Amino acid sequence: MFNKVTLDLQEKSYQIIVGSAILEHLKAFLETHNYSKIIVISDENVIKFHGEKLKNISQSIDFVVVKAGENSKSFAVFEKTCEEILQKNIDRKTLLIALGGGVVGDLTGFCASVLLRGIDFIQIPTTLLSMVDSSVGGKTAINSQAGKNLIGSFYQPKLVLCDIDFLETLPLRELRSGYAEIVKYGFIYDKNFFEFLDENLTEIFAKNAQILQKIITRSCEIKAQIVGRDEKENGERALLNFGHTFGHIFETETNYSAEILHGEAVALGMLMASQMSLDFEFIDEDEFQKIFKHLQKSGFELNLKNIRQNWHQENLIKHLFKDKKTENNQLTFILLDRIGKAQIHKKISLENFLKVLKKFLD
Ligand SMILES: NC(=O)c1ccc[n+]([C@@H]2O[C@H](COP(=O)([O-])OP(=O)(O)OC[C@H]3O[C@@H](n4cnc5c(N)ncnc54)[C@H](O)[C@@H]3O)[C@@H](O)[C@H]2O)c1
Repeated sequence: MFNKVTLDLQEKSYQIIVGSAILEHLKAFLETHNYSKIIVISDENVIKFHGEKLKNISQSIDFVVVKAGENSKSFAVFEKTCEEILQKNIDRKTLLIALGGGVVGDLTGFCASVLLRGIDFIQIPTTLLSMVDSSVGGKTAINSQAGKNLIGSFYQPKLVLCDIDFLETLPLRELRSGYAEIVKYGFIYDKNFFEFLDENLTEIFAKNAQILQKIITRSCEIKAQIVGRDEKENGERALLNFGHTFGHIFETETNYSAEILHGEAVALGMLMASQMSLDFEFIDEDEFQKIFKHLQKSGFELNLKNIRQNWHQENLIKHLFKDKKTENNQLTFILLDRIGKAQIHKKISLENFLKVLKKFLD
């Protein structure tokens, strides 16, 4: 059993397929496309657990393996990966396949967008985060000394295959981190979905395949709807950044290390954005408590002091103003009108931000 979601972008439209044992779909796709060569980009962990599954897909398949971790989105690894791919004598009918989490997906997508001025690529995400977020929507990027994801492109894949079987080997902490992006869709877009998640938390973290399939599909549907209306983030797509502006400052301060994973920072950030929504009286105390309790039940660390004893407030403010979503020193935040509906708010003052930050630092 599998579900299909279409991301409708006219001639750039593609399908996202969610289910178990769905590599058959890859075979079917390859049969209808005449690729001269297929190169799978993956990382050392993923290739160890799941590389075998792809080896038999085609005879003209080749592999490039990078180290696991955010550092593989560096300029140096990007250069090395491009050179390795080029040494395989590629042409414009070569297909790249990203087999891995968001790091591999972002790196592969960016390589695909620039090699020979653009070749096809497919996303086969293997983390929960990459299934519901990074593999859908066509944002590709590597990191610069000046900040994360600053060198990149909008470049859509030809197909996304979310095979739930891959999640069997995913550590719980990574699963939880990806879950933050799932509940985000409930908070910003779909109250019923939030309620479904709230009722099924135990099953989700027990990796119940049916429930995972359902919530991954719904997440991809929501992302596909939003991106379908606003591919290049001129408006509505920014709603997907709910919790991210707050989250980024903690990720930056901890150097994108294992001290706090992306989804963990987003969960904390969503709570802080909800606090700001409460401060402005957009949501009431009751809604805020629902959000807080859900994130707490999901096992997220919501007490900043338990992550790090001392946070330097000045550093955090510095990171805030370096965030690329900051325009003319005025702050932009995504805030909730209620659970299930978010809005972009520009011109938020530093004082409003500090009020929230202080509550979480004290
Ligand atoms: N392009 C976008 O729209 C977008 C959106 C969100 C995040 N991102 C990017 O995604 C990245 C984070 O992605 P991520 O959380 O998937 O991290 P990741 O790619 O680093 O994967 C996390 C860890 O899990 C391991 N792993 C992957 N699949 C596994 C599996 N099935 N079993 C066991 N281990 C497995 C990886 O080797 C790695 O150690 C960040 O660089 C972030 O900037 C991009």
